[in-house]
Amino acid sequence: MGKRPEWLDNAVFYEIYPQSFMDTDGDGIGNINGITEKLPYIKELGCNALWINPCFDSPFGDAGYDVSDYYKVAPRYGTNDDIVKMFEEAHKLGIHVLLDLVPGHTSWDHPWFKESMKAERNEYTDRYIWTDSIWEEPKGYGSLRGISDRDGSCLVNFFSHQPALNYGFYKPERPWQQAMDAEGPMATRKAMMDVIRFWLSKGCDGFRVDMAGSLVKNDEDSKGTIALWQDVRNFLDKEYPNAAFVSEWGEPDKSLQAGFHMDFLLHFGPSHYNDLFRCGKPYFGGEGDASEFVKKYLESYEKSERKGLICIPSGNHDMERLAYYIHDDRLKIAFAFLLSMPGAPYIYYGDEIGMRYIEGLTSKEGGYSRTGARSPMQWDDSVNAGFSSAPANDLYIPIDPDAKRPTVKKQITDDNSLFSEVKKLISVRQSHKALQNLGDIEFISDGANGKPLAYIRSFDGEKILVAINPADNPAEIKTDCNIVEQIYKFGEDPEIKKDSIVLKGKAVVFALI
Ligand code: GLC
Repeated sequence: MGKRPEWLDNAVFYEIYPQSFMDTDGDGIGNINGITEKLPYIKELGCNALWINPCFDSPFGDAGYDVSDYYKVAPRYGTNDDIVKMFEEAHKLGIHVLLDLVPGHTSWDHPWFKESMKAERNEYTDRYIWTDSIWEEPKGYGSLRGISDRDGSCLVNFFSHQPALNYGFYKPERPWQQAMDAEGPMATRKAMMDVIRFWLSKGCDGFRVDMAGSLVKNDEDSKGTIALWQDVRNFLDKEYPNAAFVSEWGEPDKSLQAGFHMDFLLHFGPSHYNDLFRCGKPYFGGEGDASEFVKKYLESYEKSERKGLICIPSGNHDMERLAYYIHDDRLKIAFAFLLSMPGAPYIYYGDEIGMRYIEGLTSKEGGYSRTGARSPMQWDDSVNAGFSSAPANDLYIPIDPDAKRPTVKKQITDDNSLFSEVKKLISVRQSHKALQNLGDIEFISDGANGKPLAYIRSFDGEKILVAINPADNPAEIKTDCNIVEQIYKFGEDPEIKKDSIVLKGKAVVFALI
């Protein structure tokens, strides 16, 4: 693996949705000081890195993915000073912090966009992508039309209130489509690098990058977008070699070549991630099939030439929670997989206690079906589950109404809880380099038709066999590995034979070989 921030080698991330994590000022919405207050909890779990969803000023039409000021923490979360203090406190605990960069679009409230809407030419005329006539709409994209005196339609990236920033077209085909190296697109790129520089200079340790693969348009093979990010990586290597960038791209063969240190496998894209956790018959539900996932994983692993890390998250703010399809012991088994794979693990807040996906909630801030995965963290059994002292009606999203909802307080002292299992798994991972982010992987059983998943992780001479059986029935894995010591076990003891291992139903073993 090439040049990289070394802290990534054993980073285990925790994703925080700031609205819903901890509210210390009683307004019903989580805040930065709430995150600072809970850093010791994250440390206790064993995570040593954070990704915090957007916390910049915004009209919150898409929960903050519609930025109106890249340089200012949204007042509802606190101040820039609060976040700098949070970086400092995190660093004292050995925790690195990634913020969320949204480079592809802004809110339509952003001052750049307001200038860009004007008929008279100005510095921001080319900051967004506009056709040169209101009667022409950009092919393949939604657009904003008839909203100002400017004669043109403005391309949107996601929701209609998120106009696309202009990084140019890989193959311009219409007169209004600018080349990537034209003045306007280059100015946008520079503006985004300035944002990156600003927060890194304040002490943040990098960024998760929103929709990273979609910046350059008419870019079928992503060649333009790859070149753009390589340019950003060059600047980082020079100015901030310890900063880490993870892309929301979902195609590691492209993103890692583009210079990202990490990419996610996601609920969209070619990875078959959903086969494992989120579909009619997910593999970790006990009856599914992991083999397409494994096939794709190995393909990406080969193609990305170990240029960076392929990261498999437990979930995120855009998909149903892990506990929606997978329950009880099988959640522990799913975590045994997530925490023994190469790449940096990412735990979505609350997944470590098995928080539920809450159905039927009214959409909040552009969440729609995603709202149910964004409910407040469940700390204890006090009012609002310890999340906030606000009246229940003022909470950002209602607390899970289930009387038996899981809480940190209940689980942290219970050795058999999901929290304790996740904590144990992180600690086993942190004691063995072969299990950490850079260790190699070789599959010996690909989880076809509900069969076990088994693989050998290795690093610098250390070799660990991981065998996982989420199915109800025992299963045999053919292997001539010589088991030296079992270092982690879940469920009943495995039967070790001369040329095979028999795993009981719902059982896991990690063993030095
Ligand atoms: C990403 C974010 C999602 C957001 C979208 C638009 O997919 O994760 O929450 O709505 O981009 O920025």
